[in-house]
Amino acid sequence: MTKAKIKFDPKTKVFYLANDSISYIFSVEEGNLLCHLYFGDKIRDYHNELRYPRLDRAFSPNLPGEPHKTHRDFSKDVLPQEYSGNQTGDFRTPAIVIEAPNGALATDFRYVTYRIIDGKPDLEHLPHSYVKKSDEAKTLIVTLSDEVLHADLELTYTIYADRPVITRNVKIINHGNDTLSIKKIASMQMDIPLENIQAISLPGAHMRERQIQRQTLPQGVTEFNGRRGTSSHHMNPFIALVRPETTENTGAAVGFQLVYSGNHQFTLDKDFVGQTRILAGINENNFEWQLKPNRSFQTPEVIMVYSSHGLNGMSQAYHSLLRERVARGKFQYAPRPIVLNNWEATYFNFDAHKIQQILDAAQPLGIEMFVLDDGWFGKRDSDDRSLGDWHEYDQKFKDSHGLKGLAEQVHQMGLKFGLWFEPEMISTDSDLYRQHPEYVLHIPGRQMSPSRDQYVLDFSCPEVVDNIFTQMCAVLDQVPIDYIKWDMNRNLTEVYSTVLGPKQQGEVGHRYVLGVYDLADRLTKRYPNILFEGCSGGGGRFDAGILYYFPQSWTSDNTDPVERIGIQYGTTLAYPPSSITAHVSASPNHQNHRLTSLQMRGAVAMSGVLGYELNVNDLSPKEKAIIKQQIQFYKAHRQLLQYGTFYRLASPFKHNESAWEFVSPDKSEFILFVFRILASAQPMISITKAAGLQADANYQEADTGQIFGGDELMHVGLYNLPDQLGDFRAHVKYFKRV
Ligand code: GLA
Repeated sequence: MTKAKIKFDPKTKVFYLANDSISYIFSVEEGNLLCHLYFGDKIRDYHNELRYPRLDRAFSPNLPGEPHKTHRDFSKDVLPQEYSGNQTGDFRTPAIVIEAPNGALATDFRYVTYRIIDGKPDLEHLPHSYVKKSDEAKTLIVTLSDEVLHADLELTYTIYADRPVITRNVKIINHGNDTLSIKKIASMQMDIPLENIQAISLPGAHMRERQIQRQTLPQGVTEFNGRRGTSSHHMNPFIALVRPETTENTGAAVGFQLVYSGNHQFTLDKDFVGQTRILAGINENNFEWQLKPNRSFQTPEVIMVYSSHGLNGMSQAYHSLLRERVARGKFQYAPRPIVLNNWEATYFNFDAHKIQQILDAAQPLGIEMFVLDDGWFGKRDSDDRSLGDWHEYDQKFKDSHGLKGLAEQVHQMGLKFGLWFEPEMISTDSDLYRQHPEYVLHIPGRQMSPSRDQYVLDFSCPEVVDNIFTQMCAVLDQVPIDYIKWDMNRNLTEVYSTVLGPKQQGEVGHRYVLGVYDLADRLTKRYPNILFEGCSGGGGRFDAGILYYFPQSWTSDNTDPVERIGIQYGTTLAYPPSSITAHVSASPNHQNHRLTSLQMRGAVAMSGVLGYELNVNDLSPKEKAIIKQQIQFYKAHRQLLQYGTFYRLASPFKHNESAWEFVSPDKSEFILFVFRILASAQPMISITKAAGLQADANYQEADTGQIFGGDELMHVGLYNLPDQLGDFRAHVKYFKRV
């Protein structure tokens, strides 16, 4: 293992963090302000060259309290800072805003001291990346203080030894006698002096998650945010900054990923001298935190990655970190089972008999786990009832001697058994609501906004979380369950808690997220043998915070393979294939009615954690045979497909043809996927070039026996899909080093 290095030079007052691939450098400037200097490729040492240029700039104020005419060349307004304040000379977007007891909104935190420790401390009550041994990382904690507010900030920087990764978070401690009202507190700031930056974000919608958007930054503020209570389908808590020339495999890319599942805010503020400020953290909108004396507030973590090998280099660093040092538990690296889920097969309309028929047809095909989706509890015949009543719907399980009987039958067939829950929700038509109407998020005196005819439980209230925990344990202690799909099918409105005082209502959004993490933590600890899958109407809460508890998530309610290619391609920008679950569903597709080949549906779904979601009894013998083959192929190459090194090769957002590839860590084998959406009678020529292979090795393609050089595959390439007939085609080619 290489070493992570952190040092402080007391003469130049420069902090230098480095490992074998990256360096991060900042200094303490006049007035004890922290000044950002560099983040990028490793430099061996820093010789004080790039110091903030002193220049008298009109309309940019000098430091508060500076005597007349001195230091007119020094202003916070253009200083590239590490963590900026408000209303004290910097007009750009601030990192922190606090209301003092007198109503003032100014913040001005100055450097006081630092400490360096081995390893990486845990974040209390929040998900985070971790180390297993203290020599895997080094951590720098820099303390700043605002003397007027009597508050300290701790800026924490961790650099991993063997990864191009720096994580950051901030903690504020109130040392005064008054309560401070925090209006905004970013998890990180970085001001970079580069012109010509492009931002990549992952916007979307329900059934169109994580589309790749790339744009050049204008002067002024560009913001990517989520304010729906969860990380959301609409904007993922991740951005990357790149140069115009950056491609998938070349050029610089810097990623910023928030380990958080609630409202988020990524602000890019390009100033009047061409520098860009990057801020990431909890969304300030609807946020306010009452920080009592002697109390602290901890922000979520941001994981920053630097890559000089393009976007694939950045994504691969995220993939391995999220797999190895964010995900936890027994299933972190375990082969993930091939699921059959009954949702698109039956929706609410099932009973044990019908399920048994589906299972009888599916089991011989090689599936490994059956997941009983929505509809097994309360009186759940449709989506407007019973959420909150987590006990089995007796009538549906008459033929199996209850839910437990069904689970046991599934086990007897040699399959595992999974169950769907939506723990955070409540229907007004439920026993829970009739007993505890106060458990729902609502504002007294106002009507509640329904969404899918359901409402959100007040998870900021520990009693509510306890109630759901107890109900879920009662099921899990009685029924042998191997997997839970944890769903969340609406966003938060009327975000108000009747158990908190009027001044604390700005805390509810964040406390809600902490309540979700608390329940996830308790359940995953109590049931370490259960594999949890996250879900929120598909991919509405696909983030690193959830991944800390649940190693995989349902990627999208859209199971059409054509649209899925884009959704999965975008998702891999920040998240590993082992976290991306994907199912083969019926054709015509239930979401967009497109007809596609079973072969293409299989190829897209096996590019993540493969599953099936259709009624196997509706399939022809030929289709069943194809599924059997798909499952055999997947089982043979599961390790490579779930944990191999993933390369995006051709973007579906640009072309009719797209491609990606999985390479084993030792480069001895790889699988290439090429997809074509529409056929053409007069097709244009297109070529796919592989990446990440051993240039001087030869590889043999399994189906044809043909042999190619690694260099040949990477530089000459292969023609796409030589048989040009028909829409919606996929080629899956397995190669082995010979
Ligand atoms: C959400 C999920 C689906 C399914 C339904 C059940 O939409 O994403 O997979 O579980 O809920 O209501």
